[in-house]
Amino acid sequence: ESYDMGGHDTYMHKEISEQADAVDRVLRGRIDDRFSTVHLGGLNLDAREARGVRRIKILGCGTSYHAGLIGAGLIESLARIPADAEPASEFRYRNPVVDPDTLYIAVSQSGETYDVLAAVQELKRKGARVLGVVNVVGSAIAREADGGVYVHAGPEVCVVSTKCFTNTVVAFALLALHLGRIRDLSVSDGKRIIEGLRKLPEQIAEILRTEDRIKEVAEAYAGAQSMMFIGRVRGYPVALEASLKLKEISYIHAEAYPASELKHGPLALIEPALPTVAIVPDDDLLEKNRAALEEIKARSGRILAVAHREQEKADHTLVVPKNEPELDPILMGIPLQLLAYHTALAMGRDIDKPRNLAKSVTVE
Ligand code: G6P
Repeated sequence: ESYDMGGHDTYMHKEISEQADAVDRVLRGRIDDRFSTVHLGGLNLDAREARGVRRIKILGCGTSYHAGLIGAGLIESLARIPADAEPASEFRYRNPVVDPDTLYIAVSQSGETYDVLAAVQELKRKGARVLGVVNVVGSAIAREADGGVYVHAGPEVCVVSTKCFTNTVVAFALLALHLGRIRDLSVSDGKRIIEGLRKLPEQIAEILRTEDRIKEVAEAYAGAQSMMFIGRVRGYPVALEASLKLKEISYIHAEAYPASELKHGPLALIEPALPTVAIVPDDDLLEKNRAALEEIKARSGRILAVAHREQEKADHTLVVPKNEPELDPILMGIPLQLLAYHTALAMGRDIDKPRNLAKSVTVE
């Protein structure tokens, strides 16, 4: 495939830069202000069926799995349906219990990842209902699923996923809102989420305008041998995805932990040579997150915070605009894509084609 790089040095940079437009596309034509909900034409799940769903299981690999983790959180908070995500590659080998009241959701940028496709086929063989949250229209997973939500991120060429990750999370927000409004999400909460969704493209553009500052910070951390990423609840999958991105393109070893788990082990690693990237939204866990920063500082660990305002305990803070708490993970992931990008660039890595990886793994 050869797409115009549009003046960017890499596809990754181009794709990161396209995210405001991409998010605009996934929202377009789907918002229904009259009922404070969204229309998802391809879902193939009527209101009565949606009310019968007792549990949601999301399956994906790599970055799509991480988008699924955020998606599960969105579904639980907006629709109050128990939801979780699992790597598709593991799911199909543990002889999972396939429950008729569970709705399965397969997530994939390419729609061709073998592990995900095989999980979908196994589920269908057992009579489960499977939806797809997929980017590539007409791909194998999209065809195999009973219905779903297209992510409309546009073509993604860089091996690592950025704009598709963001759009997939937004697609999950739409699905969660839709399911929520069929169930117990109030009109005013529906409206609140819709207003938040509408703000996303401009807020993404605002974050992208701070790239010079992110580059400066990335260069300050580029010499690290290893990095720790922490977050809590909604922030934890953001930490997981940011650490994966850094590993994939810079080859710096990175770990992601829930900040709450630090004291149960990883705190032993903290020392000046192991910087920590902390996701610190201004939400109900702010004080808990700040306490974790204090623990790290007490062990002389360097801290880069991604937060809604400057964090006093951090050596650097990347400030992102605030949205609704449920949607914060979408915005907090964006500076971390640029952090990984500029770290890898400073290290002279082949960003669009990292060693040992393929854009889509169509064999087992
Ligand atoms: C490969 C890529 C990852 C991607 C994963 C899932 O391993 O290197 O970047 O997240 O596949 O791909 P999918 O197309 O299913 O989202």
